[in-house]
Amino acid sequence: MRLRRIFTTLVIITAAALGILYLFLDRLAENPRVIELKGEDTVRVSVDTSERWTYGDLPGEWPSEPDPELVALGKELFNTRGCRVCHTIGEGDLVGPDLKDVHRIRDYRWALLLLLRPDSMQQYDSLARALLKKYGVRMPDQRLSLREAEALLHYVVWESTKGNRATK
Ligand code: HEC
Repeated sequence: MRLRRIFTTLVIITAAALGILYLFLDRLAENPRVIELKGEDTVRVSVDTSERWTYGDLPGEWPSEPDPELVALGKELFNTRGCRVCHTIGEGDLVGPDLKDVHRIRDYRWALLLLLRPDSMQQYDSLARALLKKYGVRMPDQRLSLREAEALLHYVVWESTKGNRATK
């Protein structure tokens, strides 16, 4: 009788412990790492351990028609912020990858984040890590604002699609 009660108690304790452990691990797995982009508006971006990104209010899509004002700003930044030292747009890889048609192979928000928080991306994102491994150089954090990062990407799209426009 006594033995049985001890046994039952043990089973209950073990079940409770497993339950708590499960909840804890589950929380840990879901626990997002948050990247705050502070600018005019703070954007909170987070990623869980399965690399599911939650982009908050980060702008979503590659522009189908680059905004001329952003293109002009992006062009200037591309020359003054050192991008050109490491990248070409259509002339092959330098220190970093050729950026021509990057909008065809990457998610817009992924590219924005790479520009805004290269360090966090290398920490949390396996694609960013793979690129780092391939090129062996870490893209420096250029302390860009969200608008500047958008301008740079608009410029890259504009340069990439120049040929199409010329024949139109
Ligand atoms: C010191 C060299 C360097 C500078 C400066 C630099 N990059 Fe990079 N960039 C890299 C490397 C190397 C990679 C590959 C990822 C990595 O290793 O971090 C990369 C990756 C990228 C990617 C993703 C390309 C892909 O194929 O997915 C974009 C977009 C990009 N850079 C844009 C820029 C822009 C815009 C600037 C200027 C603000 C800039 N980079 C400045 C070296 C640089």
